[in-house]
Amino acid sequence: MSDNSEDRITETVLKSFANTPNPRLHMLMTSLVTHLHAFIREVEPTEAEWFAAIDFLTRTGEMCDDKRQEFILLSDTLGVSMLVDAVNHRMGAGATESTIFGPFYRSGAPELPYGASINQDGDGEPAVVSGRVLATDGTPIANAMLDVWETNENGMYDQQDRAQSDMNLRGKFRTDDQGRYKFVGIRPVPYPIPDDGPVGEMLRASGRNWYRAAHIHLIVSADGYLPVTTHLFVKGDSYLESDAVFGVKDSLIADFVRHESADAATRHNVRAPFYMVEHDWVLEPVA
Ligand code: BEZ
Ligand code: FE
Repeated sequence: MSDNSEDRITETVLKSFANTPNPRLHMLMTSLVTHLHAFIREVEPTEAEWFAAIDFLTRTGEMCDDKRQEFILLSDTLGVSMLVDAVNHRMGAGATESTIFGPFYRSGAPELPYGASINQDGDGEPAVVSGRVLATDGTPIANAMLDVWETNENGMYDQQDRAQSDMNLRGKFRTDDQGRYKFVGIRPVPYPIPDDGPVGEMLRASGRNWYRAAHIHLIVSADGYLPVTTHLFVKGDSYLESDAVFGVKDSLIADFVRHESADAATRHNVRAPFYMVEHDWVLEPVA
């Protein structure tokens, strides 16, 4: 007979998984039950609190469709997405750190020439972004690919905003034979993550911020190297310490330097005032 008393129920439930044929599933389920039971023993929820938790998860599921994924947002805002990223991308010393992918990537951005602008609609403050893609031993990587995307100055990605051109502020760039890249975007702005669902409720109830620190997204890849999904953050941004999804890493923060000179602007094919930022991306060779 099984013992389902308060003291022994965890052991009884763990034993019920003993015949799980897949060892990984066995490990996952027994660990999940162990931690879940420990949580209940620690917080001793009232029945009303437990039903409120189930209602929260039910509404989180109901909010999901092909455009909105509230469960991923929950994972992001609890720091779980960043922890999953960390345990899966333990990069070698010196390699660029990865950060959260986010829900707004679109495949099929146009491949553009060195120095071209991704800002089809012309809003925002121009930012000239340049640098090199290097291997961890310092060798420049020619023909590496940078797939970049960012919001417009209104904090919205093109697919969230019918007023923007299709693929606005998205582009792919290749490095030249010295590993150099350059593109023109806008100085990124902080923007709110979707806050009209259960995740927004949770953030408000906890007195938490629902803005992301300003960033440009990049996937940097090259043949023979591990690709990295990462961001470029803006030094001095007010949300670096409180990014809603815990995506900030110090090594990814760069100085966007303001320039007023009309001549310099003309040289970079932008209007003044504009910003310049230089950042190198470092890839680890495939073992
Ligand atoms: C983003 O940076 O695009 C993002 C990441 C996580 C949640 C929402 C947005
Ligand atoms: Fe983003």
